[in-house]
Amino acid sequence: MYIEKTPLIIDTDPGVDDAVALIQAFYAPNLDIKLICSTAGNLGIETTTRNAIHLCELYEQNIPVAQGLPGPLYRDLETATNPHGSVHGKMGFGKYVYDGVKNSPIELPAYEAMHYALQLYKGTTILVLGPLTNVAKLLLEYPEDAKRIKTIVFMGGTKENVLMEDNPYPEFNISRDPEAVDIVLKSGADIVIIPMEFGHNAYIPQAEIKKLKSINKTGEIFHTMYQDYKDGHVKDEDAATHDSCAIAYVIEPTLFKLEPVTCEFIYRNDKGILVSNLAKESNIKLAIDMDYAGFKNLYYGLLSVSKTKDE
Ligand code: RIB
Ligand code: CA
Repeated sequence: MYIEKTPLIIDTDPGVDDAVALIQAFYAPNLDIKLICSTAGNLGIETTTRNAIHLCELYEQNIPVAQGLPGPLYRDLETATNPHGSVHGKMGFGKYVYDGVKNSPIELPAYEAMHYALQLYKGTTILVLGPLTNVAKLLLEYPEDAKRIKTIVFMGGTKENVLMEDNPYPEFNISRDPEAVDIVLKSGADIVIIPMEFGHNAYIPQAEIKKLKSINKTGEIFHTMYQDYKDGHVKDEDAATHDSCAIAYVIEPTLFKLEPVTCEFIYRNDKGILVSNLAKESNIKLAIDMDYAGFKNLYYGLLSVSKTKDE
């Protein structure tokens, strides 16, 4: 049966939930991943680059990895930490560790690699699972690329309009490079936003995490990664699924209900929030609902067909 494949660039800061999303993307029959770009976010750029390369090696994916900028466009990098240290564990994969990687990132920096991939592959979607730094850099250097990108899908911000709250929560991907958010929102590109509420509501509970081990090698890896992943909005023993929700949209858009919105970035306490308001029509769409049962089916379906190089 012929399945039309979506050419896809994934920009990511692996990170536990990024790792789960990347592995899911590797096995989605309707995705053709042309390029993976590392971005600084959950951890520093060296770690996120190495982690992205490791996953490609572990799952024998012949996908080029391009290294992103070392930090936000105009400010210092603040990685994802909590009182225990890194939200994603010391090396970004919870308690999962690996020796090292054989391959290096390609020569081109992420934004240049994106630019060339957009020339080569018409109708390419860019999925951003971390701060928007690399995509903003692409659009600064090549503004005409906004029209070459089919859709920029990014995980970030909140569904609820928190503008009136005294101290609204600064969602990580949006708040770590606010200037990049502004550039992307104003670029004219078609954008879909998958806000953080979905990753919190569609958390993997401890009871399910325990069972992951017995499914296959990937389930065992997810279980180990989840042991030290503390999102802060879900119980420590549960696992948020932010980036899996974002890749689920790219794989199966019908799982989501979108609404056109006007969307602006508002600075708060030197961080910031996304403020979205419903609009009659807009190039920016916000996901406002998800089929949670369908999401879980996709999560376990892709998990069950994944195979590491050692299996
Ligand atoms: O706020 C959640 C987002 O920030 C996720 O993409 C997580 O991986 C971190 O990058
Ligand atoms: Ca991420």
